[in-house]
Amino acid sequence: MNVGLPPGTVFGSVCLQSRPSHDAFQSPLRGLERDEMRARIAAAAILCAAAAVGASYSALRGQDTSSAPHSVWDGVYTREQAERGHSLFGQHCAKCHGDALEGGDESPALVGAQFLSDWNELTVGDLFDRIRKSMPADNPGHLSREVSADILAYLLDANAFPAGQTELAHQTEILQQIRIESNKPESKNKK
Ligand code: HEC
Repeated sequence: MNVGLPPGTVFGSVCLQSRPSHDAFQSPLRGLERDEMRARIAAAAILCAAAAVGASYSALRGQDTSSAPHSVWDGVYTREQAERGHSLFGQHCAKCHGDALEGGDESPALVGAQFLSDWNELTVGDLFDRIRKSMPADNPGHLSREVSADILAYLLDANAFPAGQTELAHQTEILQQIRIESNKPESKNKK
């Protein structure tokens, strides 16, 4: 429930004023007046409680980020994106890193344990920038954000991270919120 007023301001002051002051009870009020005073305090207390509930409810909603992806295990790219990435990889990367990402003479593998341990606990945004800024090694800095994201989706697919419903974004800041975790988290094994 939302009472429509910022708690803390209007209700805050009502709540403070409605605290039964010492004087109110000590002063020789006549019966009727005292009853009216009690009724007002009770009404104010109900409003204060309502405001407090509203405030804590919106605080809870503000903190709810459970639907945002947190790691590469949450389905952060789509299958179509990975397929586009696969053919782009063939054009821009395979001559050094191999058709199956197995690596070449000078070029490291982009799948498997060594690759994953290099990137474990970094973010998808870090890997995105690494590709965008330093690859292809013989002509770096020319890949668009779209192309880099598609190729990155292919790398995630090749490393057996699950596909999902939403494509990888093209903004580093968004991708930086997705952690690379080489091991599948416990809680996701149940599915
Ligand atoms: C001309 C050869 C060449 C091409 C083409 C190339 N790379 Fe590389 N790549 C390398 C070499 C050499 C390294 C290791 C040295 C370095 O980091 O510069 C590397 C490193 C990397 C790394 C870091 C690997 C790790 O474990 O840290 C990634 C990721 C990567 N390349 C992705 C790509 C992608 C994606 C493409 C295609 C857009 C690409 N590379 C194209 C030669 C190449």
